[in-house]
Amino acid sequence: MSGPALTVTGLEAGYVRDLPVLRGVSLRLESGSLTAIIGPNGAGKSTLIKAVAGLVPVTAGRVLLGERDITGLRPDLMQGLGIAYVPQTDNVFRSLTIRENLALVLRRAPDRARRLAQTLAMFPPLAERPGLRAGALSGGQRQMLAMAMALAIGPSVMLLDEPSAGLSPKAAAEVLELARGLTGRGVSILLVEQNVRETLRLADHCYILAEGRNQIDGPAERLRGDPVVAEIYLGGRRVAAP
Ligand SMILES: Nc1ncnc2c1ncn2[C@@H]1O[C@H](COP(=O)(O)OP(=O)(O)OP(=O)(O)O)[C@@H](O)[C@H]1O
Ligand SMILES: [Mg+2]
Repeated sequence: MSGPALTVTGLEAGYVRDLPVLRGVSLRLESGSLTAIIGPNGAGKSTLIKAVAGLVPVTAGRVLLGERDITGLRPDLMQGLGIAYVPQTDNVFRSLTIRENLALVLRRAPDRARRLAQTLAMFPPLAERPGLRAGALSGGQRQMLAMAMALAIGPSVMLLDEPSAGLSPKAAAEVLELARGLTGRGVSILLVEQNVRETLRLADHCYILAEGRNQIDGPAERLRGDPVVAEIYLGGRRVAAP
């Protein structure tokens, strides 16, 4: 496949009428790419992927899946079109087992047993103990389960909100490598991340948001060498919004 999997143009969205959080954000997620969104706390990163997923009202602008206009579509319809959204927290049912969590997202799939087995096979640490409660998993393995649940529906686009937040550096690196690996299976990934150094190492393209607007974007390789990006974002700290 070529061309963008997802195109966002001039997106305005927010939680309160006449007070948009996003004030004209545009981006392209190329097919099969890992595209990252970084930026200070409160920049609107989560709002952006929630708006794409149909979870925050859009007041202006467009979201295209391939060439299809999906702006403001209901979240369940988005899922049916192959868009999987993984929230940062509360993204698995802790009281259910690994297998039960996967069965839940596959409840409407006609070939549930086969898909469940296929999905588990892609995540050996989960496949080893499918009867374990999700609440007993490590943070990294829980994120792995959340990604497996998203993947089970066979998405073409995955929206991941800070999958490495709160994880040890080792677990964080593993989760990001996992996301990178999924692009090899034809999934296009839009990833919000706070680990700028690791993100610029792994991503194809990166967008920096500030105050609900595009700030800088470019191939990750180029941004790695950008002195402004280095000064503001590569100190290994999160910067506050000005
Ligand atoms: N449910 C909500 N209701 C009202 N305002 C909200 C809501 N969620 C977020 N906001 C506001 O929207 C703005 C952007 O928040 P958002 O969560 O998108 O930022 P972010 O870039 O994801 O930040 P962080 O790095 O802290 O996750 C903030 O000013 C925030 O207070
Ligand atoms: Mg956020």
